[in-house]
Amino acid sequence: MIIEPVIKGVVARSAHPYGCQAAIEEQIRYVETQTAIVDGPKRVLILGASSGFGLAARIALTFGGAEAKTIGVSFERGPSEKGVGSAGYYNNLFFKEEAEKEGYTAINIDGDAFSSDVREKVVEAIETYFEGEVDLVIYSLATGVRPNPDTGEMWRSAIKPIGQSVTGAFISLETDEWVDTTLEPATDQEAEDTIKVMGGSDWESWIDTLINAESLAEGCKTIAFSYVGPESTHPIYLDGTLGRAKIDLHQTSHSLNLKLANFNGGAYATVCKALVTKASVFIPGLTPYLLALYQVMKEKGTHEGCIEQMQRLFTTKLYGQNKVPVDGERLIRIDDLELNEETQQAVSALLLDINQNNFKQLGDYQGFKQDFLKLNGFNFETVDYKKPININEFINL
Ligand code: NAI
Repeated sequence: MIIEPVIKGVVARSAHPYGCQAAIEEQIRYVETQTAIVDGPKRVLILGASSGFGLAARIALTFGGAEAKTIGVSFERGPSEKGVGSAGYYNNLFFKEEAEKEGYTAINIDGDAFSSDVREKVVEAIETYFEGEVDLVIYSLATGVRPNPDTGEMWRSAIKPIGQSVTGAFISLETDEWVDTTLEPATDQEAEDTIKVMGGSDWESWIDTLINAESLAEGCKTIAFSYVGPESTHPIYLDGTLGRAKIDLHQTSHSLNLKLANFNGGAYATVCKALVTKASVFIPGLTPYLLALYQVMKEKGTHEGCIEQMQRLFTTKLYGQNKVPVDGERLIRIDDLELNEETQQAVSALLLDINQNNFKQLGDYQGFKQDFLKLNGFNFETVDYKKPININEFINL
């Protein structure tokens, strides 16, 4: 079969296996040419390893100097009669292939990271492949739902402002149209449920599981990713339901830091740059900001993708330093280039002018769309998209 991009709204319904392979190779090539990670972790567990920041972290830690063994947990769809499967499925497959080619252990565990079954599998894999202990746990899940462990009922996150409605725009990646939208404020229940899904409680429960299983090594660190953003994004992000969840995550990092002090380790919420990922295109109101940010940062030569962010995080913040550098709230900041004053002034000025008629000219819509297509294995020059693929080859791998 020939696989073409199929997009519904902001969701990709198809993925190209060999394009996903090209994306993995591109990221490996990048980290191999950068400053190497010094004194990095040797055994790493990544929760949410199949795309975005989690995948980039896995690639950086394996190929960017640390030579880590990795266990990657993700929730992806393989090919079936229903469809070709998700990009993350192919990312897992090809990452493992590339890692094993170079002699690195790479274990993929596909399943619901909220379940006790996956927790058991991970502890078992740590026993089997990591001599029983892990040096770094990366929490990089992004999801809209989490089952309540007591009742099995689903908590659902709602990406909404709090206290007042907010008007913004999203751009349909299906039709390339700018759609103005007004988001009504979240109810208290929606805000609470979003904290349950995207806040720190599951991160904490994972670390507790690993402590109880005696799976944490001396010096073990853990990180989870957060976003803060400039003031223009606060109504929809930091002051909204997602921001509440992130503040909860920041607070969790402090309690986990106390627990990890017993292992001479540490826990850090790491604030990253706004980027196009499967998760971020869902945030209404954020897209015009992303278009302006990409435009300005590319002009200034400071633009980074997930892989650049992760390699810089591990070389300049988390490893090879006497002390992990943090801000006044004990957050690791790798969003420094995004929040650079000059950059933000230029972004704010651009945002005043960007509208539904000119967003393709004034903002970097082309770059935004291209990144989205690449996330799903499309738009790589090295891939022959006209060549038929036998999808059965990838079933049950
Ligand atoms: P992503 O959508 O690219 O990756 C999410 C990962 O979570 C995937 O590997 C997916 O398989 C996995 N996952 C989701 N539900 C799961 C489940 N139930 N069980 C197992 N695995 C599951 O997302 P992205 O953007 O890399 O987000 C990761 C973290 O980074 C999130 O906390 C997000 O808020 C944060 N972040 C993202 C930014 C952005 O602009 N994309 C900026 C700053 C922080």
